[in-house]
Amino acid sequence: MDYAARRFRRRAMALVDVLLPHVYTRSCVERCRDVLGGLLRARSRLRVASLGGGPGCDFAASLHVAGAAPAALGLGVAPAAVTCTVLDFEPAWESCVRAVDGSLRGAGSRVGLEPCDLTQPFEGGVNARLREAVLEAHLVTFCYVLHEIAAALLREGGSPAAALLGGAVPGVLAHAAPGAVVVALDASGFRGQREGGTEDSLQG
Ligand SMILES: C[S@@+](CC[C@H](N)C(=O)[O-])C[C@H]1O[C@@H](n2cnc3c(N)ncnc32)[C@H](O)[C@@H]1O
Repeated sequence: MDYAARRFRRRAMALVDVLLPHVYTRSCVERCRDVLGGLLRARSRLRVASLGGGPGCDFAASLHVAGAAPAALGLGVAPAAVTCTVLDFEPAWESCVRAVDGSLRGAGSRVGLEPCDLTQPFEGGVNARLREAVLEAHLVTFCYVLHEIAAALLREGGSPAAALLGGAVPGVLAHAAPGAVVVALDASGFRGQREGGTEDSLQG
């Protein structure tokens, strides 16, 4: 779980930055209020489907946003509990997701791992839990996974155009609940030098 040790915090903060950017900058406050007000008002539980969610950092981010946004944006609601389903094809994340759940769960919030394969069609048998989670999610995240899906589809011989939006992604977008917020974060493919090491430029 070296990956989680190196990236968990930065990845969680990347999603917080998208959902709660510059909350104290007046120009962004109204936008945050629109998006997060829609997510959090009239809702005591925020349901998150974290696609390719790996270690569970989207749960940490969602807890932070659900806890901080009501007061920061004056939404006039109590913080919502968060139910986060991490959908991932790597079962080795189970112990990490359990550890994250053990550390952060409480007040009705929890995270769990379910299997899926995002290179397969949304309707496929392997994606039954994905369909359940997406259909009921208020927030759907694709964080640093789209490039992996596209690369896998290209390796299987798909055309570049098909690989870009292949597998389960079109079905996820088509079946997300009305009003759901979908966030996609990804690496650019640019490789740069950083802190003495080489890594994809946007990999936190
Ligand atoms: C670079 S990691 C990103 C993890 C996490 N979202 C983050 O932001 O740190 C890519 C994740 O996508 C998962 N993944 C890759 N291909 C997948 C597929 N076909 N179906 C489901 N998950 C996949 C990997 O197991 C891994 O957890």
